[in-house]
Formats: sequence, C-alpha cells, structure tokens
Amino acid sequence: MKSFSIASGKGGVGKTSFVINLSLALSELNQKVVIFDADLGLANVDIMLGISPKFDIRYVLNGTLTLKDIIHPTEYKFSLIPAGAGIYELTQLSASQKLLLRAQMEEALYPFDFLFFDISAGISSNVLFFSQLAEERIVLVTPEPTSMADAYAYIKVLYKQGKIKNYQLVVNMAKDEEEGKKIYQQILYVVEKFLPEVKITLLGILPYDECVKKAIRSQIPYLSLCPDAKISIKIKEIAYKILNQKTQRKEIEFKEFLERFSNL
Ligand SMILES: Nc1ncnc2c1ncn2[C@@H]1O[C@H](COP(=O)(O)OP(=O)(O)O)[C@@H](O)[C@H]1O
Ligand SMILES: [Mg+2]
Repeated sequence: MKSFSIASGKGGVGKTSFVINLSLALSELNQKVVIFDADLGLANVDIMLGISPKFDIRYVLNGTLTLKDIIHPTEYKFSLIPAGAGIYELTQLSASQKLLLRAQMEEALYPFDFLFFDISAGISSNVLFFSQLAEERIVLVTPEPTSMADAYAYIKVLYKQGKIKNYQLVVNMAKDEEEGKKIYQQILYVVEKFLPEVKITLLGILPYDECVKKAIRSQIPYLSLCPDAKISIKIKEIAYKILNQKTQRKEIEFKEFLERFSNL
C-alpha cells in the first residue's frame, strides 16, 4: 500500500476535488483506493460524493468499532475513511489508542493499493502528522501568489521539523500548460535556493475548468460528469504516473508505514 498526503498550505485550492477524482481514475485502472478524510475543519469528501457515512474514526478510538468496520465503500469503487471530529485526537493519541489503531491497520488497510490523506490547510500538528505518516507528499498549488507562498511555507516547516525532503507538485487551476510550468519553475527556484536538500518534482498541471464547480454542485466526480473534459484527461495522466510509481514492495511499504506511525 502506497500512501500519499495531499496538502497545499492554503485552503480552497482544490485538494478534495483532486483526491476524489484521482481516486476514481486509479479505481478505473483496477487499483484499490481508500481516502482518509483528514481535513479537520472542513471534512467534506462525503459531501462532495453525496454520501453520509454513519461512523468515523471516533468509534475506533473509543473502542466501539474496528478500523475495518468504518471503511465506507462508495459507488465509485474507492472507499472512504470518514474522520469527523475524531481527527482532533489523532495527534494526541494515548499509547494504548496508538497500539489499538496500529494493531487494526494491517487488517483494514493491507487490501488497498493506495491510501490518500486529504489534509487540512495550514501547518497544524495534524497537517504535520499526516504529512509525515504518508510515504509521499503531493502539494497542490494555484497560480495565485498567496497559494505559492503558503505551499512554500508548508514545505519549509515540514523539512525543518520533520526532515522531509521529497515533494510532488500539482499546479491546479492553471490557464494553460505554460502557466503551470512557470509556477513550478518559480517554486523550484525558491526551494533550490533556500532549501537545497529538498527535492520537488512536477506531478501534473490541471486546468481551470467550470466542470469542477458543476461537479461539486451535483455531488458527482468531474471524471464521471465530464469524462471528456481536459481536466479529466489530465487527472487520468496523473493517475498513470502514480501507478508507475508503485513498486512491487507492498510488504516493505506496509512495514515502513507502520514504523512511521509508531514513531509519530
Ligand atoms: N481545476 C479547477 N477549476 C475550477 N475550479 C476549481 C478547480 N479546482 C477546484 N476548484 C474550485 O475550488 C473550490 C475549492 O475546491 P476544494 O476541492 O474544496 O478545495 P480544498 O479541498 O483545497 O479546500 C471549489 O469550489 C471548486 O469549485
Ligand atoms: Mg478540502
């Protein structure tokens, strides 16, 4: 199971729509995907999908249910771990809660090929927790200077506090490919200058597309609503790229995931 956190620094840049559509694209490539809704203030993967799961991670932490019990299947093949308010407690797990969760992770998560953490804006302890837990980090940025500044701030804090050196950038709401590449070059320039140990690659460029808004209003992923839109083609390209990053080291990946969890 390969795990990714999806962060941005700034809110409202398109993380949740990205995670949902990427998960759908990977599901269509026969991958088993689970989204962990870890956006503390604005947990809204369920709303974007038009579903209302009954249970969330709180039920696991208080011992009522197991992690496997709360994994919610969706009509789009991928699954959802609803976090609800329980997410507050994840950064302050007691030793016994941590052991409980760790013991249940293998059974619950091992069947999946990909795990995506849709995390909050900002640089809270939760954001750092999930960014360090994941094997890979995707940083979403838009062409707005505020978004670029916040993305850089996120990378800087994570590098300084967690020694995390690898990031994959997605430029969202780009006017065209050229603008997307320019944004990447600008961030790369600052990162290379001030954080020379950090490696940041360009995962993809997603255009601004009215279908994203239409899709959110209809509570349907844009990949389903507008399969031929440019953004749908681009998200499928990103899914292929991510699929190509998957190695045949599932056992090791999982062991490393559990180790990181124990050390956080
Ligand atoms: N590629 C895009 N083109 C047009 N609008 C977008 C795009 N991506 C996101 N949006 C808009 O941005 C808003 C925030 O998206 P959302 O996925 O909820 O962001 P976040 O999870 O980062 O807060 C939504 O209202 C959505 O319509
Ligand atoms: Mg969101």
